[in-house]
Amino acid sequence: MRPIDTNMRLSQTLFGATFHNPVLLAAGTCGFGEELEDALDLEALGGIVTKSVTLEPRAGNPPPRVVEAGNAMLNSVGLANPGLERVCSEKLPWMREHLSSIQVFVSVAGHVPDEYWRIIEGLESVGGFLGYELNLSCPNDTRLGGLPFALDPDALRVVVEGARKLTDRPLLVKLAPNVPDIGPVAEAAEDAGADGVTLVNTMPGLLIDIASRRAALGAGSGGLSGPALRAVGVHAVHRARACTSITLLGVGGITAAEDAIQYLLAGASLVQVGTATFADPRAAQRVVMGIARYTEKMGIENVQDLIGVVQGTDRPVPVSGGPR
Ligand code: FUM
Repeated sequence: MRPIDTNMRLSQTLFGATFHNPVLLAAGTCGFGEELEDALDLEALGGIVTKSVTLEPRAGNPPPRVVEAGNAMLNSVGLANPGLERVCSEKLPWMREHLSSIQVFVSVAGHVPDEYWRIIEGLESVGGFLGYELNLSCPNDTRLGGLPFALDPDALRVVVEGARKLTDRPLLVKLAPNVPDIGPVAEAAEDAGADGVTLVNTMPGLLIDIASRRAALGAGSGGLSGPALRAVGVHAVHRARACTSITLLGVGGITAAEDAIQYLLAGASLVQVGTATFADPRAAQRVVMGIARYTEKMGIENVQDLIGVVQGTDRPVPVSGGPR
């Protein structure tokens, strides 16, 4: 029997595009690709999600912006980015030239729905990427007078419905883990026209320096990521899979292929590597190679055969409340 080519085992067509493998770099951990081009082979990945783009440039939050938190990381970067105009004139042309064989999603963030829509209009006029990931869940940049959109399905719907009218490109929505049940939130995204949801963004957290009695992060509280978040993310994907039929992207605590495979088994078609890249810029490449070895060893012809086939999870996990 002819051995199956590794690329064929890992390759999928999603949103009408080819993903050479299911591993992407997560938003906020790889800039716009250029920042990491000397550290890893970006074209060996399935794709990247850019740093979130806002209407105006953002300098970000005061330092420290990142602290270690045991088996996790706490950040409050404050969506530092060059803003729409420079992304259109500098970042998109670079990505078009250097990342043409992988898939690029541009992450979009704003305080009010109109900001998301204006950014999409601006990016549409330039093009050179596959789709959008709407960041509706950043814990470090809450909307004016309110919570992140992803904590309020009605507010989320408004942003996504408006965005849907502006583009035919694949539209992903990045959700927050700190909701009673992520299933109905994913459903709201699907109803509003999203093509996929990314689960999950960071979990709000606070660390205190006991010598100074001050918050460890310059901005105060932040978002927790890394291995401590993995089980939360896998559970969120499993819940979303039960409630929606759109494409799921799993993110949270992926440091090795074994972690990524859990997300696939729970129902994600694609995964994103985030925090692990800070410790090892080649982490995502290692994950790709590990998934390839696993599929080969298990005789799996295509990675799609792994998606959502987890067993023994029929007993519902309470998502709020609990035994009294
Ligand atoms: O602070 C930040 O830039 C984080 C963004 C996010 O978690 O979405």
